[in-house]
Amino acid sequence: MTKNKIIVALDVATKKEALDLVDQLGEQISFFKVGLQLYTAEGPEIVRAIRAAGANVFLDLKLHDIPNTVANAVRSAAELAVQMLTFHLCGGEEMIRAAVSAKPRELSLLGVTVLTSVDEQTLRKIGIPDKIDDHVLRLAKLGAETGVDGLVASPHELKMLRAQFGTKIKLVVPGVRPTWSEAGDQKRVMTPREAFDAGADYLVIGRPIIAQPRPREALAQILAEIGA
Ligand code: C5P
Repeated sequence: MTKNKIIVALDVATKKEALDLVDQLGEQISFFKVGLQLYTAEGPEIVRAIRAAGANVFLDLKLHDIPNTVANAVRSAAELAVQMLTFHLCGGEEMIRAAVSAKPRELSLLGVTVLTSVDEQTLRKIGIPDKIDDHVLRLAKLGAETGVDGLVASPHELKMLRAQFGTKIKLVVPGVRPTWSEAGDQKRVMTPREAFDAGADYLVIGRPIIAQPRPREALAQILAEIGA
């Protein structure tokens, strides 16, 4: 069902704000993202509370460390019974392999290729001469060959990644904006409908829902627009 493919990003500072949103939106959707801000403030307790409320959790910690440390963090996330966890593919093959071998089947491990905030000038300064798309594709291939379940992808990478990997990889897509909301700092956006049509499996949506005066109505409008 399409409504199960919408993940609301709980980009808030406190457990109370996060659980208020889960409470308000939980009748319409069942997947929430906990990112660095909320996790750093509230720790694993917030994840346990969302799971106890019956919802799925995408734990967006973007892990990047030596293979042994990443594998152990994957085990800790698995203990929390989250459904999705992110890590950086630029950690290299050995790190990816360690992460993949530490995860249970029911946990989807998603690789981050190149952050959407990174441009070609940023790549140059860290010594990477490639075009962004080429670097994204190289890391994506490394992840797919090494057994990741999915990738975090910008809407504009969807066609390229779908063409490359078919349906064997889940594509989870932030940077989505309905026509009626502000793009904010997201530069190359697509509407939810366009992103699904371009091949997204899941959409991650934050501010167009959580920063609205009435989050429940904003979510309902998005679900109506995608025909969920
Ligand atoms: O508020 P907004 O809809 O832009 O939120 C998007 C969410 O997806 C944020 O939690 C952000 O950290 C995350 N994200 C992103 N771009 C990426 C990876 C993650 O916007 N490349």
